[in-house]
Amino acid sequence: MNSNKKTIVLSARQTAVNIICAVVQQGKSLTEALSLADSLDLRDRAFCRELCYGTIRWYSRLDAILGQLLKKSFKSKDTDIKVLALLGLYQIIYLNTPDHAAVSETVNTCAKSRKSWAKGLLNGVLRSFLREREALESNADSSDAQYAHPEWLVKQLQQDWGDRSTEILQANNEHPPMSIRVNLQQNEREAYLAELNEQSIEATLNPYNNCGLTLEKPVSVEQLPNFWQGASSVQDCAAQLAADLLDAQAGQRVLDVCAAPGGKTAHILERSPSDITLTAIDIDERRNQRVMENLERLQLNAEVLTVDALETKEWFDGSAFQRILIDAPCSATGVIRRHPDIKLLRKASDITKLVELQAQLLDAIWPLLDNNGVLIYATCSILAAENSQQITSFLKRHPDAKSVKIDASWGQTCDHGRQILPGEQQMDGFYYACLTKS
Ligand SMILES: C[S@@+](CC[C@H](N)C(=O)[O-])C[C@H]1O[C@@H](n2cnc3c(N)ncnc32)[C@H](O)[C@@H]1O
Repeated sequence: MNSNKKTIVLSARQTAVNIICAVVQQGKSLTEALSLADSLDLRDRAFCRELCYGTIRWYSRLDAILGQLLKKSFKSKDTDIKVLALLGLYQIIYLNTPDHAAVSETVNTCAKSRKSWAKGLLNGVLRSFLREREALESNADSSDAQYAHPEWLVKQLQQDWGDRSTEILQANNEHPPMSIRVNLQQNEREAYLAELNEQSIEATLNPYNNCGLTLEKPVSVEQLPNFWQGASSVQDCAAQLAADLLDAQAGQRVLDVCAAPGGKTAHILERSPSDITLTAIDIDERRNQRVMENLERLQLNAEVLTVDALETKEWFDGSAFQRILIDAPCSATGVIRRHPDIKLLRKASDITKLVELQAQLLDAIWPLLDNNGVLIYATCSILAAENSQQITSFLKRHPDAKSVKIDASWGQTCDHGRQILPGEQQMDGFYYACLTKS
């Protein structure tokens, strides 16, 4: 028995430092790194999440402020101290934590770490900030640091969206609403809304389909009526547009490419006649496990294959599909408000590689589409290279492909397809193109 072993209980702030370091130093996604907070009690976990999301959302602006307060920058082995300083600044600027509490809690967190030598430094930095706050903030805001986005992305958005880029950068720093999709196999949307209202959960109807609801305030899934019996799913309203665009008809063979974790797979099944046959494929076994769990919870059926979509010879049986959805891997620049770590993790060079992979996926899957069939290409990107320009190049390579205009009241038309910008009609940034084969 190891009776001498002590369990070290970390505070919410110390855990937040570890989580943010895992993102900025090890390149982990925030979603993955947040598992470090699992051992905290519910209140501390919520506070820790708030610290992590907020500090990462504003990281480069906070960094521009911190840079003015330091004689020399931190060595990479002291990134934890730098992050602790950023956390302190975040609490003062964005959380309205009383100044003295933000300073003393930051210093106390440092005192409990193995780097107590940095107590004085942190105390000095935060106190200097409080003395010169206005000048320091306005200095940071005189540059692009005000938007807290990497320089390459600001430039790319300016190139793609001109005057609208500022609005996009601001929307990316907002808190997104929680939207849900009512499983129409089990409930009418209005009846489900009434059930939500009975639990004092307020929501509005998504005007673009017959199953979406946007909640006034986020809640845990446990609070959603019959969630575990499959009555509803959490899904942004922009992602809910895919199934209607695909519009699978009775008896059709449907292919869902890049399907995991299965949000759109499930929606296609919920809205379609029961005799469609759906094959959902994804390269990632762990993510495919989540497709299966989601289908089981929602009481739906599909053939789920863990395969590389590019290697069609290994899994395609030769019978063409009448409907195909490619929800391509992308920069996820349309969902930065939900995943602010994208601003720290994504590099300009990633875009070239993603555009290449998307083109390969389109080329490999196109021959599997039946004549007169429909292929919906989707991304949660707002970059032209992954969207409209990608489809323009595809059409040049495939004379038998035709781009069909999407008539809708959401988003805006592009050269090909339709783009929703982040925050527009409360939705995530998303792109859809509709292709047919003649
Ligand atoms: C945008 S996500 C899909 C989201 C999903 N459609 C949904 O609605 O829940 C992109 C997916 O592409 C998958 N992927 C990337 N490269 C792939 C490939 N070569 N073959 C199959 N799937 C791939 C990733 O594993 C990831 O799950």
